[in-house]
Amino acid sequence: MKLSRRALMGLAAAPLVSSFAAGQAKRGDMIVLSRRPEDYEMPLEGFLDEITPIDRFFVRSHHYTPRVDLKEWRLEIGGAVAKPLKLTFGEIRRLPRVDLAAVLECAGNGRGLYEPSMPGLQWKYGGVGNAQWTGVRLADVLKLAGVREGAIEVLFDGCDEPVGSMPKFQRGVPLAKAMDPNTLLAYEMNGKPLPASHGYPLRVVAAGWAGDCWMKWLRHVEVRTAEFDGFFMKTAYRHPGKAVPPGTAVDPAQMSPVTSLKVKSVVAAPRTGGPVLVAGKPTLIRGAAWAGDLAKVDRVEVSVDGGGSWIPAKLSPGSRFGFIPWSLAWTPRQTGGAKISARAYAANGDAQPFAQEWNPSGYYWNVVHQVDARVAAAPEMLTREAAPQPGAPALPDGYRGACLTCHDELMMSQQRLTRAQWEREVDKMVRWGANVKPEHREGILEYLARRFPAR
Ligand code: HEC
Repeated sequence: MKLSRRALMGLAAAPLVSSFAAGQAKRGDMIVLSRRPEDYEMPLEGFLDEITPIDRFFVRSHHYTPRVDLKEWRLEIGGAVAKPLKLTFGEIRRLPRVDLAAVLECAGNGRGLYEPSMPGLQWKYGGVGNAQWTGVRLADVLKLAGVREGAIEVLFDGCDEPVGSMPKFQRGVPLAKAMDPNTLLAYEMNGKPLPASHGYPLRVVAAGWAGDCWMKWLRHVEVRTAEFDGFFMKTAYRHPGKAVPPGTAVDPAQMSPVTSLKVKSVVAAPRTGGPVLVAGKPTLIRGAAWAGDLAKVDRVEVSVDGGGSWIPAKLSPGSRFGFIPWSLAWTPRQTGGAKISARAYAANGDAQPFAQEWNPSGYYWNVVHQVDARVAAAPEMLTREAAPQPGAPALPDGYRGACLTCHDELMMSQQRLTRAQWEREVDKMVRWGANVKPEHREGILEYLARRFPAR
């Protein structure tokens, strides 16, 4: 296997001890899906803030976080342009400055809720956040370079490097989205320079679109006259655009790239397993709603009886591409359980579904969110179910060296895969550089399929 210098340096520091507490690992109050590459999920309480603080903002990375030296860094604009450019950070900052609140949501947010399950980070609700982005319009930069006749697409590339022989993460958008006034190259997040995990010094902001094209650590913009056919355009981040039988494989050629987000809302308070409500005492049901670039959020309806009846929630103004905070005052009358759900509608008539159409990579989850609240006659403490903590079983031979080098076991322990899915996953990792010796393969597969099975 061939590993880049950067990856080898990373390996030296990689913790070889695996964690068995799937979904329990924490960083601050973030849920850790992977430490290296960095993938962190926002807890449900995060939906109470209209603007998500940086230390609660979810992080999604395909490769390790690069360290960028601003003195050496340039933004290159090339391809089908009249005048290729190499801009310094200072030159970019001198272009007209734009502020925009916009929701960034991972296309795979909610993958962990799909049945049957599929490989990938098992996000539940918090693969999303809303920040105030500051930067320049991508259109202004492209106009400086002069887009040539025949251009159809703009491809982004970052300073991050793949490990092993994993394909490089490169994504693009159609020219029209690149020229949209709400597509920015941002250098600030919530008024601060972009943190390293969020793409310092410059990242794409494609308001209303899923996070896959919000390239971090941006260094190269290529204007193209033909569609890019790299792995992350032609194989990954594609959706069938229609219902397919759950669990089936779909030829990527029959799918199209992920684009606009779906209309969605999440209940932030009360929470399942959260503080108990008191009968006769008013409480505020609260949450956030958002929509993609097709149409804005029109309304949110709340049900406190498991979907039997719906009451319009009060919407805060929010902003077109940001979170729309909503609330409903409610006084529970009956003690026991209360099923509380929220359903958002967009101005074009789209509404959150009650059941999700399945798709092979688990994108675009936007099912109506329901929480189980508890109502008591007097305040009482909820006894949380203690998560069973099985002792760590012996690891199979060769597993550490083959699988716990580039990342730790959190990556595996959040999966729910069949034996056949695990075989494909191991084959993929071997193609990316995992050194699985033939005599160890069976034992590793046996272990993975038994320890992290499909539900
Ligand atoms: C050469 C480095 C490397 C090795 C070795 C490696 N992985 Fe990975 N693996 C990665 C990277 C990088 C990701 C994250 C990819 C992303 O987020 O796009 C990943 C992601 C995963 C995922 C999440 C699902 C997915 O496909 O993104 C699983 C599961 C996984 N690896 C299992 C394994 C197993 C099992 C082994 C041992 C056979 C292994 N990995 C060895 C680099 C490696």
